[in-house]
Amino acid sequence: MHILWNNQIVERSTVKIDIEDRGYQFGDGLYEAIRLYNGKLFMYNEHFDRLERCAKKIRLDLPFSRLELLRRLRKLVEIEKLSEGDVYLQVTRGIAPRNHLFPAKPQPVLTANVTPFSRPVTLQQQGKTACLVKDQRWLHCDIKSLSLLGNLLSLDEAVQRGFDDALLVRDGYFTEASASNLWFVINGCLYTHQDGPLVLPGITKLQLLRIIHQDQLPVKEMAVPVSALNQIEECFLTNSIEEIIPVISIDGKLVGNGQPGKLTKLLQQKYLEQI
Ligand SMILES: Cc1ncc(COP(=O)(O)O)c(C=O)c1O
Repeated sequence: MHILWNNQIVERSTVKIDIEDRGYQFGDGLYEAIRLYNGKLFMYNEHFDRLERCAKKIRLDLPFSRLELLRRLRKLVEIEKLSEGDVYLQVTRGIAPRNHLFPAKPQPVLTANVTPFSRPVTLQQQGKTACLVKDQRWLHCDIKSLSLLGNLLSLDEAVQRGFDDALLVRDGYFTEASASNLWFVINGCLYTHQDGPLVLPGITKLQLLRIIHQDQLPVKEMAVPVSALNQIEECFLTNSIEEIIPVISIDGKLVGNGQPGKLTKLLQQKYLEQI
């Protein structure tokens, strides 16, 4: 297995991560997960835009340009002879003596790897169960930070309680799921949390909003209160890896008739056409 390590592509066993890499010690870094369909990176520009925006927010200068990174990732995909899969990349603030202060002259460390993965069609058809979990993450959820402990704790809580995923709730409103944006259909209208510090601005969400606007489907980008739970007709999750996943029950209560809803299936079809 080959790894992109800064500007070289090497065998995994030759990569050395220093114990004082700030990503390793502090989670001081960013990541992206990009889908590869038919050997091509899906929505690369949008992923790079988000990486650039997040880098600005954490005051990190990316050590590569949009095109340089694309060339290196394409080379990695070619060497790994991969057609369907995921590309995971992360960039940390690099190696420096352990200190909470940002280093004066950081030398960011980039790593990327590719993994074979096929579209999870069964999951997309059958959906997931979910439960409500208190959103206890920080107030920069728009940053695709390596520090995912809050998300991991919420997923673990859901799984310990016997569910597949966690629907996060902050101050009485749904935000997102443990690793996806969250959508509802209420009274025939689609709802998803507006972008801002409480949710990740998902690339799949962005693509879906384009489809929704193009097809003039009713949508509101606003937070849904937990008090609207009984009115929910459909619920689904979106992320780059799994695309659109129906949520068929919440806290053990069926959503609709417990099958993926009509709008969910329509959007799954339309998203597939974009791929
Ligand atoms: C917390 C969270 N929200 C939303 C998403 C969806 O983002 P994207 O569609 O860019 O994969 C992710 C993906 O990892 C996530 O971790």
